[in-house]
Amino acid sequence: MKTFRRVLEYSRPYWWRILISVIASLGVGGMDGAFAYMVAPLLKKIFTEKDLTVFTLLPLIVIGIFLFRGICRFLNDYYIRTAGQLAIQDIRNDLYRNNMGLSLRFFNAHPAGALMSRVLADVAVMQDGVANIVTGFFRDGFGVLSLIAVLFFRDWALAFLSIMVIPLTVYPAQKIGRRIKQLSRQSMGSMGDIAGVLQETFSGVKVIKAFGLEQREIERFYRFNRNFYGFQRKSIKYEGLSSPVMEVITSFGVAAVIWFGGSQVMHGRMTAEAFFSFVTAMMLLYTPMKRLINSYNTVQRSLGAAERVFEIIDERSEILEPAEPVAIERCEGRVEFKDVTFRYGEEEVLSHINLRAERGEVVALVGPSGGGKTTLVSLISRFYDVNDGAVLIDGVDVRAIGNRGLTRLFALVDQETILFNETIANNIRYGKTDATDAEVEAAARAAFAHDFILAMPDGYATNIGDRGVRLSGGQRQRLCIARAILRDAPILILDEATSALDTESEQMVQQALNNLMANRTTFVIAHRLSTVLTADKIAVLENGRIVDVGTHAELLARGGLYRKLHDMQFAR
Ligand SMILES: Nc1ncnc2c1ncn2[C@@H]1O[C@H](COP(=O)(O)OP(=O)(O)O)[C@@H](O)[C@H]1O
Ligand SMILES: [Mg+2]
Repeated sequence: MKTFRRVLEYSRPYWWRILISVIASLGVGGMDGAFAYMVAPLLKKIFTEKDLTVFTLLPLIVIGIFLFRGICRFLNDYYIRTAGQLAIQDIRNDLYRNNMGLSLRFFNAHPAGALMSRVLADVAVMQDGVANIVTGFFRDGFGVLSLIAVLFFRDWALAFLSIMVIPLTVYPAQKIGRRIKQLSRQSMGSMGDIAGVLQETFSGVKVIKAFGLEQREIERFYRFNRNFYGFQRKSIKYEGLSSPVMEVITSFGVAAVIWFGGSQVMHGRMTAEAFFSFVTAMMLLYTPMKRLINSYNTVQRSLGAAERVFEIIDERSEILEPAEPVAIERCEGRVEFKDVTFRYGEEEVLSHINLRAERGEVVALVGPSGGGKTTLVSLISRFYDVNDGAVLIDGVDVRAIGNRGLTRLFALVDQETILFNETIANNIRYGKTDATDAEVEAAARAAFAHDFILAMPDGYATNIGDRGVRLSGGQRQRLCIARAILRDAPILILDEATSALDTESEQMVQQALNNLMANRTTFVIAHRLSTVLTADKIAVLENGRIVDVGTHAELLARGGLYRKLHDMQFAR
């Protein structure tokens, strides 16, 4: 009921469209009635009274009635469906906007394909329901009520008998409706699984082909698809059961009416014509009633999807915005980890981290993979909140700065070279949306990307295409570096930012990065120790703990894990 109300709430801004549609639907019904009503007197006038004027007018009347009915029908359809689409559009927008506000933790837990499926498939199923709520419930509900009124007008005792069975249909209808809603939820979840597989296999097609796993993936897809069919089948069963069950129940009403009405006729208390006309009206009543129940089922199905949609709309990020964000106007870029402990799940990924980066310092993080380096820097930008301790920027807890203020303070380059289906210039502009062409070019030059960009078909206006298939890994990485350069933020985070470059371009880019690092605080993670030699401070991370901190010379002299890593790399 709550979900139902929320769906209606979304239709409310479009109430006038719904109103026009309802009025127009009355026009359609009214014309049907008028036509049926006018047939008898018209025929009488033409054939019995031989009225020529009515006869010549008749074609015009027929055309007029159908023209008016046609216009009403169009308005009815057009306005109700656009109202439905507009409401659905709002729901989809809300869903997407809320999704964007959610944390990385949420996205880690929900595969992209499954989320896409909610935005597309679940919302599409909701759409059926929204239109049905209004048209079905209004039109058929109205029809049922008016026919019941006619029955009572004819013969109240028989009418009472015939509608006595209606309450009996409520229980099975509810039971079936509830089951349909539940199955709808399950089948939409199953559709999400299918979308998840699609997203995974289409984006990972290269690995699948390289390892010859096509058949395995096809079978996996078949399995998910079969699963989906299983839910659909049950859902079809319940929807198919609905009409027969209702008909059997209402047959009791018909039987009672025939028995009681028939005896009335036999005892001469009722004419046979009156009896038959009553039975006809009663049969007429069952048609809109059946449609009403079908609408009810459709609405239940859409509510199943709606629940899943509202789940995401109601999802709140665990990264809370401070009530009164602290504004950092001129950021110096001092970063401090104060006794930070962090877990993704149960296990501690970072334990009691203490680390300071003074203004303009370069802090390198080294250590075996899985040691927690990426996790550590992701706490600065508050992709996750610490479980214990605090991360401070200029002495202010990052949790007090507020999202908008915080994102302005840093630029990030990592191994994931994410580019968007846009022009090269716009991809660089993600770093600073209002940058001029000259600024974009300067950033590209600094990242040693300018030359290869000019060699592209349309230079800076070249569209990168889906996931930048036409660029090499190193080129992609240089575009990401250009983006960070353009951002011109006081804190720079480089997580394996040069991993995809060959040694030569790495040296060039390193030079660009050195320029960039000059007057800002930098956290650099690099697997090649050569790039961290000149860092002001090197922190060695192992199993989520900082096991040593110092300069290259100090750490080498001390001969711990750093020495080992160093010797392994430079042994030859
Ligand atoms: N999103 C995540 N969810 C759960 N565990 C994670 C996630 N990211 C990393 N981990 C785990 O945290 C530990 C540290 O990972 P990470 O910070 O990526 O290490 P590094 O960057 O030093 O290689 C690893 O054990 C890894 O499995
Ligand atoms: Mg890492």
